Amino acid sequence: MNAQSAMLGPEASQERPPCPSCPPEITEGICRRCGGVTKPWVYYAQVMGGWRWVEPPELCERCSAQAERRAEAIERRDAYADLVAKAGLPTEASEWTFAKAAAAAARLKTGEDLAAWQRAWEQARCWQSDSFGLLLQGPTGTGKTVLAVCALKGWLWRRQAPGLYVSAPAVNAALGAKRRPERKAWAREALEAGQAAGLVVVDDFAVERLLAEAQRALVALVDRRRADGRPTLLVTNADREQIAARFRRADPHGRLADRLADYCPTVLVEGESFRRLMAGGA
Ligand SMILES: Nc1ncnc2c1ncn2[C@@H]1O[C@H](COP(=O)(O)OP(=O)(O)OP(=O)(O)O)[C@@H](O)[C@H]1O
Ligand SMILES: [Mg+2]
Ligand SMILES: [Zn+2]
Repeated sequence: MNAQSAMLGPEASQERPPCPSCPPEITEGICRRCGGVTKPWVYYAQVMGGWRWVEPPELCERCSAQAERRAEAIERRDAYADLVAKAGLPTEASEWTFAKAAAAAARLKTGEDLAAWQRAWEQARCWQSDSFGLLLQGPTGTGKTVLAVCALKGWLWRRQAPGLYVSAPAVNAALGAKRRPERKAWAREALEAGQAAGLVVVDDFAVERLLAEAQRALVALVDRRRADGRPTLLVTNADREQIAARFRRADPHGRLADRLADYCPTVLVEGESFRRLMAGGA
């Protein structure tokens, strides 16, 4: 046997040339993933001069739908990771989720202290609004920032739209930075981005000694978002009177607190400071 006949093999010579005007025999394929039947298809192409047929697909209908869903899930997860990366979250809080926070709280807290935190957790977790927000209020170290970050991440996942974390003290400090125009520009950009974002978290919203400019900007931010019907999550240590006092230069008649009553219902985040519990003291 010479080399050429070995290459062609005995079957090669028996193959009939396909008839240009008849569809070829339809043969079924085997799904690469599940071994099931895959359906081939044929079409008539004038330009190609007759019937052409397409190889049976590598995946059956069920497996290809599954592969499509999987690709969509991966795409959604990647888009979410991108949104989280762009939200400007504080590094120490960025890894938290509601599930992680619940598990960690149950390790550190007990009794009524745990129950109180769980009530706040439940309210933050149930918040799913696209038009109103929350005011997370409570003493220092009770996990307010963490809950706000969890709610922001949940929203980013559900909505697949941009959200933003803004620290009011950071904005305030940047606005007050002497001879640092780039810091002022950063603060103004952050406030502007906050107006446009789908959701904003303003952390330490009513921090003490806010500059008049910062007070005005924050009141304007909340007002604007409320008027636009966009949600805002506010985080603060301050109670109602303290909020009014800390914004009195921008809002001498205390209108802000009044607007917050319906726009950002209060979630009390009370109990022992996680910082103290972690340090081993109680
Ligand atoms: N559910 C939780 N389980 C365990 N640790 C937590 C939990 N929530 C927050 N922490 C930790 O407790 C510390 C304080 O949390 P966080 O910054 O959210 O509190 P805060 O109420 O915002 O405090 P502050 O009023 O000082 O801003 C952080 O180190 C955080 O990692
Ligand atoms: Mg905080
Ligand atoms: Zn299959």
